[in-house]
Amino acid sequence: MQRPPNRAATPATVEHPPSDMTFEYRNQTLCAEEVPLEEVARRFGTPCYVYSRASIENAYGEFTRALRGRKSLICYSVKANSNLAVLALLARRGAGFDIVSGGELQRVLAAGGDPRKVVFSGVGKSEEEIAAALRAGVLAINLESEGELERVARVAGRLRKRAPIAFRVNPDVDPQTHPYISTGLKQSKFGVPYSEAERLYREAARNRHLRIVGIGCHIGSQLTGSAPFVDAAARLVALAERLERAGIALRHIDLGGGFGIRYKDEEPAPIGQFIDGALGVLAGRKETLLLDPGRSIVGNAGVLLTRVEYVKHGESKNFLVVDAAMNDLVRPALYDAWHEVRPVRETPLDGGKLYDVVGPVCESGDFLARERRLAANEGDLLAILSAGAYGMSMSSNYNSRPRAAEVLVSGRTAKLVRRRETARELFARESIPRWKDG
Ligand code: LLP
Repeated sequence: MQRPPNRAATPATVEHPPSDMTFEYRNQTLCAEEVPLEEVARRFGTPCYVYSRASIENAYGEFTRALRGRKSLICYSVKANSNLAVLALLARRGAGFDIVSGGELQRVLAAGGDPRKVVFSGVGKSEEEIAAALRAGVLAINLESEGELERVARVAGRLRKRAPIAFRVNPDVDPQTHPYISTGLKQSKFGVPYSEAERLYREAARNRHLRIVGIGCHIGSQLTGSAPFVDAAARLVALAERLERAGIALRHIDLGGGFGIRYKDEEPAPIGQFIDGALGVLAGRKETLLLDPGRSIVGNAGVLLTRVEYVKHGESKNFLVVDAAMNDLVRPALYDAWHEVRPVRETPLDGGKLYDVVGPVCESGDFLARERRLAANEGDLLAILSAGAYGMSMSSNYNSRPRAAEVLVSGRTAKLVRRRETARELFARESIPRWKDG
């Protein structure tokens, strides 16, 4: 990923623009592709997530290009952004999907995804979810424990099916990322221990309700260097070789996702570097290579558009109180994550001040950005960048805030892909019981 060129017209707030240039100023107004965000706000209101179709398709294309010539499948990780329109874009381009719940399976099917390209991960699959996956005919259920092996076999037996399974193996590799999103270390709840994998495979091979199809791992998210990823691939290949000697053949090797993006000044290795490293380790092996990227497909393809409600000058701090909050984008509150903030109307910074950009939620942790130099007034629009992954999909209704609208832009056209919730919808499933004693 290259740093974008310096632009004289760009205000000084943008010190380290993320590498994706889908969101650029045209005539002093920030646009999503060719649609001014002011127009999006006027038509659909704020807060509002805005995604770029071209950016999603380009990011997906980066994977398919790097994998050209290799039997492979990109299983987009639905949890990153599960809007049906996003899933449909990727399904149409041939993507598979990495899911972690029955709900995500239903979304994939509703979006026209091919169940035969779905891998089902997660440590806590319920019997119902396993049955739904088997009925749909998924590519693989990734087993993460011995208990799950038994449960999947039992459910498959009941349905008179053979469950296609893979083990998610914990390769005990340090991904060198935020501890909350590193998943491949020994102490993590994910996957089966590397040292036990061979025994579990032998056990699965003996079970007539299971059909072994692959092996997988996922060491963590927002990886910037490719070395831990390639190390994990090597550990998996070593295991695959041992299994082969034991007469257990695999059809695929799933190396997970986790490819980092630029939020601020990170310099993530290009996708091609991760993939070339893995392909080197896999040279001579026939298995299909599966990858399940989420963030790297959608992260920089989306912004959260919000309006300044109040400019508040405190005794020691200044605040821009905006109409988006931690319930819309929880990453800053949860991980202290840094998201670039840009004014939609390009403003010179003379008169700018340091502001915390905060939402209306009643928590001191409700901030979207801290200590940013901005020149903004009440009513101005701001765009919170790099919000396409783990933004809307992690949103909540805390403080009874209806969730934001979502809009997908393609060229000059913006389409609503999720209408804003209404407050009534939030309590439509609730009821007030009548008690005998009043
Ligand atoms: N595959 C598996 C098995 C996963 O657990 C994950 C993410 C992915 C693929 C996709 O990872 P990605 O390519 O998006 O990094 N909420 C956090 C990220 C949690 C990631 C959980 N697992 C955040 O906002 O940074």
